[in-house]
Amino acid sequence: MMSIEIPVGLKDMLQGYTVEVLRRRPTDLVEFAIQYFTRLQESRKHDKHAKDSPVNSARKGVAFDSNSFESDEDEDSDDYMPPPTPNKYSRRVSVCAEAYNPDDDEDDDFEPRVVHPKSDEQRRRLQDACRDILLFKTLDQEQFSEVLDGMFEVLVKPQEHIIDQGDDGDNFYVIERGVYDIIVLIDGVGKCVGKYDNKGSFGELALMYNTPRAATIMANQEGALWGLDRATFHRLIVKNNAKKRKMYEAFIECVPLLKSLELSERMKIVDVVGMRVFRDGECILTQGDKADCFYIVESGEVKIMIISKTKAGQQGNAEVEIARCSRGQYFGELALVANKPRAASVYAMGVTKCLVIDIQAFERLLGSCKEIMKRNISQYENQLVALFGSSVDLKY
Ligand code: CMP
Ligand code: CMP
Repeated sequence: MMSIEIPVGLKDMLQGYTVEVLRRRPTDLVEFAIQYFTRLQESRKHDKHAKDSPVNSARKGVAFDSNSFESDEDEDSDDYMPPPTPNKYSRRVSVCAEAYNPDDDEDDDFEPRVVHPKSDEQRRRLQDACRDILLFKTLDQEQFSEVLDGMFEVLVKPQEHIIDQGDDGDNFYVIERGVYDIIVLIDGVGKCVGKYDNKGSFGELALMYNTPRAATIMANQEGALWGLDRATFHRLIVKNNAKKRKMYEAFIECVPLLKSLELSERMKIVDVVGMRVFRDGECILTQGDKADCFYIVESGEVKIMIISKTKAGQQGNAEVEIARCSRGQYFGELALVANKPRAASVYAMGVTKCLVIDIQAFERLLGSCKEIMKRNISQYENQLVALFGSSVDLKY
């Protein structure tokens, strides 16, 4: 029987094209193919250029497990056409300070889909790291799986700067493991304003708003990150943000806490919020836990429950309801403002949708609302005294 040798890379190339056709459903397949393959060729040139750069930490970090995915391709062979993996050494030439308008970017629709092959084990680790990433929470299933396909592993060493303040933005990063300092220049002096501790994500601001990097991110120890290149981030996340703004604009306008903010500040909040839906009775947060985010109820209702302990040391044996929050109200601010564990547990009553803001965005965007929050916090104590008497202490 005659054997026909299939050229290396053909399968992936046709598969990528087919996936794009199914996703975009173009009317003219030939025209679409011309655009698709022209762009693929451009990406390939870009990739060759990136490969020639002095250091290519992102590429080095992609560890392939040859047993776990079907590929006999040699990465260094000329025939192999991997997707571009931009890295911090192949920067954009200029920075435009204007906000990016995704609707102007029709070309995005023809960007070839970037797929970085991953072993089953890598994919499992990636999925775990991305499970709670707020920016991914409003993506549909297909967009989310495209994001996962486009991500590449980056291993970092202690003291390594993943991002330098003032640079152009190349990638967005999700943390798999490691502790990272957030350093911001204040009056010319670098100050550590926060940390990422084995979870979270960073590097979205420069890509969303086309601005220079707003902070330096430095690894405290060895760590592992998952990067997403700028083009894929634009196509999937920034475009989705335009939809998010339309979806939440009216709601966010009527959240009393945010009334004092400028419209543009409220929209920046919308850009980084995640949406979470909780089942009836589901525990949203637990008294005593470490806190890393803040919630605004979009629909439904939550009840705030507290386990108290008297000063005499007797344990309250049951949770007591102390308050409820419904549409437009917020909870989960106390632990962030006071830098303490959660003071109470919160449960969904019926299906409840909440906007969720992570601690870094909370600090950055809600600083001016803290006075209002502090006023409300002082009312919590009165509320507790009224319920439990003056000898009550919050049980952390
Ligand atoms: P970006 O500006 O692209 O790069 C630095 C990142 O640090 C930034 O996106 C945010 O994701 C993250 N970051 C965390 N805290 C802050 C902060 N207080 N100010 C600016 N950036 C911050
Ligand atoms: P946090 O401590 O982060 O998590 C539990 C939340 O319950 C708390 O923030 C407040 O937002 C909310 N809460 C409402 N009423 C009270 C109260 N009387 N004492 C403490 N927390 C309260």
